[in-house]
Amino acid sequence: MPTLHVDLGPRSYPILIGAGLMTQRESFQSLAGRDVLLVSTPTVAPLYLSALRAALPAGRCIEALLPDGEAHKTLATAGRLWEVLIANRCARDVVVLALGGGVVGDVAGFAAACYQRGVDFVQVPTTLLAQVDSAVGGKTGVNHGGGKNLVGAFHQPRLVVSDTRSLETLPARELRAGLAEVIKYGLICDADFFAWLEAHVGRLLAREPDALAYAIRRSCEIKAAVVGRDEREAGERALLNLGHTFGHAIEAAGDFRSYLHGEAVGAGLAMAASLSAECGLLEPTAAERVRRLVQLAGLPVQVPDLSAARLREAMRIDKKVRAGQLQLVLLRRIGTAFLTADYPAEALERTLAAHAAPA
Ligand code: NAD
Ligand code: GLY
Repeated sequence: MPTLHVDLGPRSYPILIGAGLMTQRESFQSLAGRDVLLVSTPTVAPLYLSALRAALPAGRCIEALLPDGEAHKTLATAGRLWEVLIANRCARDVVVLALGGGVVGDVAGFAAACYQRGVDFVQVPTTLLAQVDSAVGGKTGVNHGGGKNLVGAFHQPRLVVSDTRSLETLPARELRAGLAEVIKYGLICDADFFAWLEAHVGRLLAREPDALAYAIRRSCEIKAAVVGRDEREAGERALLNLGHTFGHAIEAAGDFRSYLHGEAVGAGLAMAASLSAECGLLEPTAAERVRRLVQLAGLPVQVPDLSAARLREAMRIDKKVRAGQLQLVLLRRIGTAFLTADYPAEALERTLAAHAAPA
């Protein structure tokens, strides 16, 4: 079985990537004898839940469906899982298994992190975004009225099973959204992968299995390596947030309805590249390559429906504010990113003005 590993000492775990894996018993052998709380959504459950359940080892399996969508990534939704766990008298050896996209993974992971001070957690991601990013690395959490992912915990999964066949049913818009995170990996540390994406983005959009499998694997390799070196984002892991400070502000300014997370990140990547060029760090031609690839992936590079003032306001409560200074991930080259609070405020203003509506 093709396997990658996230190396974190006692919290290490495998990432299985391949077609049909969620229907194979071998994928879930490590859960033998355990109670499982299988968490999914009304969209994903009819497609995959019974096949996955049939592949689980014999034992008690409780199902919980959470409402779909970013608007439900809340403490109240996590609370519903705690109610189910308590009502079913689940003990500390229960395994919470998330079947679905990043929303269900983040909420179920957070519920697992808190239930009885932490129970085991397995990710079975079914969106491209979740397979390349959110299911790996142990960031779990929920949104708060005050901002995105403001309440959460680091809680690594014990196992990630990425069944690439599940992407066959993913709506095209969601597939495109996942490509934003894939492009991000090339930008932060792998110029060759970025160039491969430029050449093969059409194959990814056409869902060619070989192209998708390569992009997922390379993305997970990069993420696993970064998380292995910096689990709690003391330094390098912050680079994985390239485009996300803009992206989270875009999501919040659009009330989490106008833009999918990946769409907001796509525009955020274009804005981070543009700001890097404004600061004289990145060649304008390189910024143009970023903009073009984001566009080729079918993602927005501008947010003309949102005001620059609203974005600026939303960026102020970002988790990367240190001593009142907003830190941003910028680019020196395609494949080289760094975190800095040292950029001219006017350059940021010009970037916001160029990508959003005037105040
Ligand atoms: P999502 O979870 O909302 O899923 C998108 C939609 O696709 C949902 O309606 C879902 O029901 C549907 N869906 C899922 N799989 C499907 C399939 N195979 N076939 C048909 N429909 C399917 O969105 P997402 O893009 O997966 O995740 C976005 C979330 O992930 C955001 O909340 C973001 O903050 C979070 N995220 C977390 C991390 C992390 O490290 N924890 C990283 C990146 C993003
Ligand atoms: N998605 C950013 C991270 O996992 O750190």
